[in-house]
Amino acid sequence: MRILVTGCKGQLGNELRRLLETGEAEIGPIPAELRDSEATYIDVDELDITDPDAVDAFFGAHTFDAVINCAAMTNVDGCEKVEDLAFKVNALGPENLARACATQGAKFVQVSTDYVFPGNEPGERVEEDPTGPISAYGRTKLAGEHLVLEANPRSFVVRTAWLYGYVGRNFVKTMLRLARELGGMTVVDDQIGNPTSANDLAYELLKLILTDEYGIYHCTNEGITSWAQFTKAIVEGAGYDPGIVTPCTSDEYAAAHPDAARRPLFSALRNAHLERTIGNEMRPWQEALATYLNNLPELEG
Ligand SMILES: NC(=O)c1ccc[n+]([C@@H]2O[C@H](COP(=O)([O-])OP(=O)(O)OC[C@H]3O[C@@H](n4cnc5c(N)ncnc54)[C@H](OP(=O)(O)O)[C@@H]3O)[C@@H](O)[C@H]2O)c1
Repeated sequence: MRILVTGCKGQLGNELRRLLETGEAEIGPIPAELRDSEATYIDVDELDITDPDAVDAFFGAHTFDAVINCAAMTNVDGCEKVEDLAFKVNALGPENLARACATQGAKFVQVSTDYVFPGNEPGERVEEDPTGPISAYGRTKLAGEHLVLEANPRSFVVRTAWLYGYVGRNFVKTMLRLARELGGMTVVDDQIGNPTSANDLAYELLKLILTDEYGIYHCTNEGITSWAQFTKAIVEGAGYDPGIVTPCTSDEYAAAHPDAARRPLFSALRNAHLERTIGNEMRPWQEALATYLNNLPELEG
């Protein structure tokens, strides 16, 4: 299988490369059919996905069976200030790729987010639940979902959440740095979601591209928590006293950080479509975090 990974220098792109190069995910070996796959990895320095002519030229010169788009503008607060640019990267870029894939009959994976939901009611969201983003990031990612599904019927839109990988910046690493440098942190305790290992997500994406079960998926580690409780697990797992985490409300956080984007209170996802199709092998988030903290010193990039 000829696979293209875009946004390869990001968190998820790096984990996809790790799995395809080693044949192993933390939750098991990748499908045997992918062991001899021919993978190409690119990032913005080689192809800016927002440039339709460049995308067409690239796909004119290369042919793929599946494209996994990990390229995105993921800075949720940053997207508020430059929504037009975020729309280009998170919506028009994926559309360019999906359209190019359609001309080759290639499958396309667009990774999306729990922030497409408004998050105003408790419980876990399934794929069919009504969307209604409350941030620029969520709006641009939702537009991307619609555009790729229209551009290529062979599209998988996979929503994930609270993602952390070994390479790149993420919440887990930030909390570890705050523990080390400041000895404590204040974290919101009323936003509920699913922390998710990029290594586990990469594994499910590779299983998905072997199928024809197109459509929208949720894919997060199992179990729900708040950012503050997640932080306690992070610092405790790294040997610090969880008492260094001070919980606060979203309103208190917003008062202290007036430029921050609004985030949904309840955006936990249920992997319902995965359960019905390839099976949901995602681990409990606590297990995935323990593996991550254990491996981080060796694999951090
Ligand atoms: N991170 C999360 O917590 C989270 C949560 C839910 C969903 N997601 C989704 O999961 C996917 C993977 O996220 P991630 O955390 O792995 O992202 P990431 O680490 O921010 O990586 C994204 C990569 O895309 C590149 N990129 C940006 N603009 C581009 C362009 N115009 N053309 C080509 N490449 C471009 C970035 O390059 P530069 O760094 O040079 O800009 C970066 O290497 C994204 O679709 C994201 O929306 C992430």
